[in-house]
Amino acid sequence: MSELRLGDTREIIKEYTDEYFDLVCSDIPYKIATGGSRIEFKGNEMSGIMRKVCPNDRLKNKWIKQEDSDTDILVRTGKLFANNEITFEEFLPELYRVLKSDSHCYLMINSRNLKELQQKAEDVGFKFQNLLVWVKNSATPNHCYMQSCEYILMLRKGHERYINDMGTKNVFTYPNILGNKLHPTEKPVELMRDLIVNSTNEGDKVLDPFMGSGSTCVACKQTNREYYGIEIDEKYYDIAKRRINSEFVSRDKNSNQVRLF
Ligand SMILES: C[S@@+](CC[C@H](N)C(=O)[O-])C[C@H]1O[C@@H](n2cnc3c(N)ncnc32)[C@H](O)[C@@H]1O
Repeated sequence: MSELRLGDTREIIKEYTDEYFDLVCSDIPYKIATGGSRIEFKGNEMSGIMRKVCPNDRLKNKWIKQEDSDTDILVRTGKLFANNEITFEEFLPELYRVLKSDSHCYLMINSRNLKELQQKAEDVGFKFQNLLVWVKNSATPNHCYMQSCEYILMLRKGHERYINDMGTKNVFTYPNILGNKLHPTEKPVELMRDLIVNSTNEGDKVLDPFMGSGSTCVACKQTNREYYGIEIDEKYYDIAKRRINSEFVSRDKNSNQVRLF
């Protein structure tokens, strides 16, 4: 039976027996180095890195349109959310334990933390399967190339298992959710759905141990998979519950074109 749980994954996951889930799919918490690029203003004008990419923009907006481009640039000034203190060692062994043999595990990560995550995942028994890329229509400022993609580390437990649509490429292009987000790092349901339908069948059990606003669980519901979502922050747990109960119909309806194999 599908369920959403409020609490700490480190505790709740112990309640599940070995090899209970057919897939683990999660946008995991990790430490963010700087919390974004600082914007400096001289009078009413920006200076520093933002001045170089948006020379004519004078607004102190969160998102600024890049000149001659469809890309929106994110301006942030602090931590994205409070609950990102958990370390990889604290949850990777349990993810491995509760996943069935010959099954997949997708973990979303940035470039800076990728190496550590892969190493620690392999230390507990996972095998590297592939590195997937989500290309967004947004970017965060950086002195050495702006960040306009995120990575999805695809792991497996046990033997290799083929994905359901072997024609799927390892680069996904879906617009980022800008403004009006349900969670600061909300992921497109379409992206989560592509991963889920490729690595499970209808009726299978999917775990998202860090569900945030529940994008993975919505994708499972749309594709007839059982969802098991855990979230420590009551605010996001409540949002996820309301989403699953279809209280955000207009938001999730566009992602309702189910692609099944
Ligand atoms: C990167 S966000 C996931 C956002 C999600 N992809 C969405 O679309 O809304 C990670 C989430 O993990 C939660 N979290 C952090 N530590 C946790 C823990 N120990 N147990 C359960 N949830 C935790 C955070 O509160 C945060 O909402």
